[in-house]
Amino acid sequence: MLHLKSLTLVKLGGSVITQKKVSPPTVNNMAINRIAKELQTHQGSLIVVLGGGAHGHQAAHIHGFGDSSTPLEKLLAGIPSIHHNMTLLSLEVEQALNANGIPSVVIPPFSSVSMHDGEIMNFPTDIIKWALEAHCAVIIHGDVCLDDVQGASILSGDTISVYLAKALDIKRVFIGTDVDGIFEEDPRVNPNATLVSVIDSSNKDSVLAGAGTSAATDVTGGMARKAWELFELANQTTQIAIFNLTAPGRLTALLADKSTTCTRIEF
Ligand code: IPE
Repeated sequence: MLHLKSLTLVKLGGSVITQKKVSPPTVNNMAINRIAKELQTHQGSLIVVLGGGAHGHQAAHIHGFGDSSTPLEKLLAGIPSIHHNMTLLSLEVEQALNANGIPSVVIPPFSSVSMHDGEIMNFPTDIIKWALEAHCAVIIHGDVCLDDVQGASILSGDTISVYLAKALDIKRVFIGTDVDGIFEEDPRVNPNATLVSVIDSSNKDSVLAGAGTSAATDVTGGMARKAWELFELANQTTQIAIFNLTAPGRLTALLADKSTTCTRIEF
């Protein structure tokens, strides 16, 4: 059994930690350093999950991930570049966390997670627990993984977050994106869209029907899928918030259990 103080999972949205529309993929070092300082305020165990952003989505898109008609050989040819880019991104985050006093290690999914038709088939978590017990923050990134049906498929940071929250019984899950949370309509299309501060069973269906998809290249489904996946945690006693990670201070507030602008998912 895990004996970890205040185990918290924070997902860093790829659009925040990379320059999502810039090619070749470029890390947003300023954002990563600021986020590392905010994470440093957390007293306890920490899992940091990285989204793909430019590093994941561009190469995945080029190699036809997210399109069911893509031939196997084309998908397989994408494995090295997607994994390599995500490794580069994860090392930048690792360096920033360590430089800011958070001892951290990267645990890459490709080497241990297997997929079955786009879903997680096997995801060993013992090494993650041990690393946390050894007082390391664990960084896990979205990745390309081997898949016994599709050859290879994308494991998103959101899917990792939900999986680990269940597997490790994590009580606080904070999903950082580049918008304030979930809106009644896509805020990129309608700038006057209203932020939904709490989603529960009473408004779940109407809210999720309106939630927009991510505007930049995104092979893993954008905001609507994110929200659906988080609802999988419905039977758990997990505190879930989707928040704007580009706005300084909001992560710090969440980590300190203070109120801030975000969408909370409650049951
Ligand atoms: C995507 O993860 C991972 C790869 C494409 C390798 P996410 O779907 O969680 O990434 P962001 O946060 O939306 O960029």
